[in-house]
Amino acid sequence: MAEVIYLLNKDTLIVKPPKKSPLVYRMIVLAFSMFCGVYICSVCLKQISRHTKPSLMDIQITEEPSERHGVKQSDKPSIHYPKPKTFSRAECADNPVRYFVIVSTQRSGSGWFETLLNSHANVSSNGEIFSLLNRRKNVSLILQTLDKVYNLDWFSSASKNECSAAVGFKWMLNQGVMDHHVEIAQYFTRRQVSVIFLFRRNLLRHMVSVLANSYDRYAKLLNGTHKSHVHSPQEAAVLLGYKPLINSSSLISDFKEMEKKVSKVLTYYNTTRHIVLYYEDLMKNWTKVKEVQEFLSLPTMDLTSRQIKIHSGLLSDHIKNWDEVLKTLNGTSYERFIHADY
Ligand SMILES: *[C@@H]1O[C@H](CO)[C@@H](O)[C@H](O)[C@H]1NC(C)=O
Ligand SMILES: *[C@@H]1O[C@H](CO)[C@@H](O)[C@H](O)[C@H]1NC(C)=O
Ligand SMILES: *[C@@H]1O[C@H](CO)[C@@H](O)[C@H](O)[C@H]1NC(C)=O
Ligand SMILES: *[C@@H]1O[C@H](CO)[C@@H](O)[C@H](O)[C@H]1NC(C)=O
Ligand SMILES: *[C@@H]1O[C@H](CO)[C@@H](O)[C@H](O)[C@H]1NC(C)=O
Ligand SMILES: *[C@@H]1O[C@H](CO)[C@@H](O)[C@H](O)[C@H]1NC(C)=O
Ligand SMILES: *[C@@H]1O[C@H](CO)[C@@H](O)[C@H](O)[C@H]1NC(C)=O
Repeated sequence: MAEVIYLLNKDTLIVKPPKKSPLVYRMIVLAFSMFCGVYICSVCLKQISRHTKPSLMDIQITEEPSERHGVKQSDKPSIHYPKPKTFSRAECADNPVRYFVIVSTQRSGSGWFETLLNSHANVSSNGEIFSLLNRRKNVSLILQTLDKVYNLDWFSSASKNECSAAVGFKWMLNQGVMDHHVEIAQYFTRRQVSVIFLFRRNLLRHMVSVLANSYDRYAKLLNGTHKSHVHSPQEAAVLLGYKPLINSSSLISDFKEMEKKVSKVLTYYNTTRHIVLYYEDLMKNWTKVKEVQEFLSLPTMDLTSRQIKIHSGLLSDHIKNWDEVLKTLNGTSYERFIHADY
C-alpha cells in the first residue's frame, strides 16, 4: 500500500507547480495527494475485508459475470408460437410467447412479485404449481407439467389464455427444482425458458418472516381460525405481537446455509438465460420492475400489486431476543442486516 501512495504522490507531483507558485498552491497539491492516498487506502481495505468475509455480497460479485453472460447469450428471450390443445389462440395466434419461471424461496416477496407481473395484460404466471407433491414425484411428471404450462394448456386464475405474451409460474427451491436440476436445466435450455431468480438480501428479516409465518400457520391450526377471519382484536393483536425467538447459536451457520443454497441454485442454472432480482431492490427502485418487463420483452406497462409487502419497520420490534442477536452479529459480515431498512 505504501507503494501505491508513493506512486500516486509521484503522479500528482508530475504536475509541476509554476516556479513562483505561492505556498498556498503547494499546500493544495499536498492536501489533494493526501486525500487521494487516504481514498485509495479505504478502497483497498474495503476489498481486503470483502475477501476475508464470505457473505451474500460475495455471491453476487462472483455471480455477476455469469449473470451478464446469461443475458448476453441472447439479449432477447426466444419467442414461441404454442398451439394449445384445449383452445384456439384466435386473434392472438400470431403473437409470440416467451417462457419464464420465477425461482424463489418462501417469504421472499415472490407472491407480491407474481401478482405484480400478472397485472400485466399479457402475462400468465400460474402460481406454485409444484406445491403439490404428486406433480413432482419424479422427473417425467415434472417435465409433463412443464410441457402443459408452456403449451398454454395450464389453467389458473392468472391465465390470460389466447393473448398471453409471456407464460410461466413460481417455483420454490424446496419443490423439486434443486433435486432434479440436471434434467430441468436441460429442459429450460432446450425450450429456451428464461429464469427469474428472486431472493431477499436481508437474511435476518427473511428468517423473521419465515418464523412468524410458520407461527401464524401453527396458530391457525391450533384453534382453526383463518388469518383472514381473525375474530377479535385480541386475536389479531396476538398474531401481530408475535416476536420470534431466534436461535443465536445457530444463526451464523443458518445464514451460511441459506447463502449456500442460493449460490448452488445459481450454479445449477447458470447455463440458462436468467436474471437475479432482490426483493429489496424491487421495493426501492421501480426501474428494476421495468427491467423485468424488458427481460421478458414485454410491452412496458404500469404494474400494480394488491398484495401488501412483507415485514418492514424496525427489526428490533420483531425479534424477542434482540440483544442476543445483536451481540451474535456484532463484528461479523452479517452485521449489515441489522441496520438495513428492508
Ligand atoms: C412417475 O410417476 C408416475 C405416477 O406415480 C408413474 O406413473 C410413472 O411411471 C413414473 N415415471 C417414472 C419414470 O418413474
Ligand atoms: C396483449 O393482450 C391484448 C388483449 O388483452 C392484445 O390485444 C394484445 O395484442 C396483446 N399483446 C401482446 C404483445 O401479445
Ligand atoms: C386462538 O388463538 C389465539 C391466538 O393464538 C389465542 O389467543 C386464543 O386463545 C385461541 N382460542 C382458542 C379458543 O383456543
Ligand atoms: C439452536 O441451535 C443449536 C446449534 O445448532 C442446537 O443445538 C439447538 O438445539 C438449537 N435450539 C433450539 C431451541 O432449536
Ligand atoms: C456453470 O457452473 C459450472 C459448475 O460450477 C461451471 O463448471 C461452468 O463453467 C458454469 N458455466 C457458466 C456458463 O458459467
Ligand atoms: C435503479 O435500478 C436501475 C436499473 O438496475 C439502476 O441503473 C439504478 O442505478 C437504480 N437506482 C437506484 C437509486 O438504486
Ligand atoms: C460490538 O462490539 C464492539 C467491540 O467489539 C463493542 O464496543 C460494542 O459495544 C458491541 N456492540 C454491541 C451492540 O454489542
